[in-house]
Amino acid sequence: MKIIVCENYEELSKKGAELIGAEVKKNPDAVLGLATGNSPIGIYRCLVEAYQKGELDFSRVQTYNLDEYLPIDPADKNSYCAFMHEHLWDKVNLKAEHCHIPAGNIAPEEAPAVCAAYDKAIEAAGGIDLQLLGIGQNGHIGFNEPAETLLTGTHAVKLTDSTLKVNGQLFENPDDMPRHAVTMGLGAIFAAKKVLLIANGKNKHAAIKGMLDDGVTTALPASLLKLHPDLTVLCDKEAYHG
Ligand code: GLP
Repeated sequence: MKIIVCENYEELSKKGAELIGAEVKKNPDAVLGLATGNSPIGIYRCLVEAYQKGELDFSRVQTYNLDEYLPIDPADKNSYCAFMHEHLWDKVNLKAEHCHIPAGNIAPEEAPAVCAAYDKAIEAAGGIDLQLLGIGQNGHIGFNEPAETLLTGTHAVKLTDSTLKVNGQLFENPDDMPRHAVTMGLGAIFAAKKVLLIANGKNKHAAIKGMLDDGVTTALPASLLKLHPDLTVLCDKEAYHG
């Protein structure tokens, strides 16, 4: 595991974009696993800037997002699909058919087949070359919430009270927040050749400290990432030192 501690969010964003950019330059057909949330916004801004300067070409890159609320319409401004359009997909030359995200507008009974198809599509693409991950304040990755057992495949999940409280703040009316989500499981994340976990701000310190302390536990899903052979933790001073 490599730990990079940055002075601030700006530096973290530049460094994260450099690492992802290097992957794309090395392999123009790279398959990127992407994340939503506040943490990666700066990285996406830097990637868009690099694209605008002609430094990066995404025309052959494929992307698979980690998660989506359930149920939610992809056009809903709170959907992760809308987030990706706003921050990256529509701002670089990614092909629309190369941008993937779990479907949030499905009936619960459709979830198993839709989730299995998502995993198959990732496998058919050759697996993920670089997976970008944020971390929840409770240590979740994607929406793999703390639990006794974590699942390997993409699956539907009931969100924890902690996540409903944290993410509910982003909805105009927190009661409108979907209570469920679809998330990639630990299987596709661990099959990624490289994992880049990012965290910034004091409110991530407990999760980062818990993750980096010795030990792995499904009660803090990010701690399992220490078992990945190519993990980089990129955080700012506040997330690292508190
Ligand atoms: C969200 C998402 C995660 C994200 C995490 C941190 O709930 N499901 O994929 O990484 O929580 O979000 P943020 O970066 O906004 O703190």
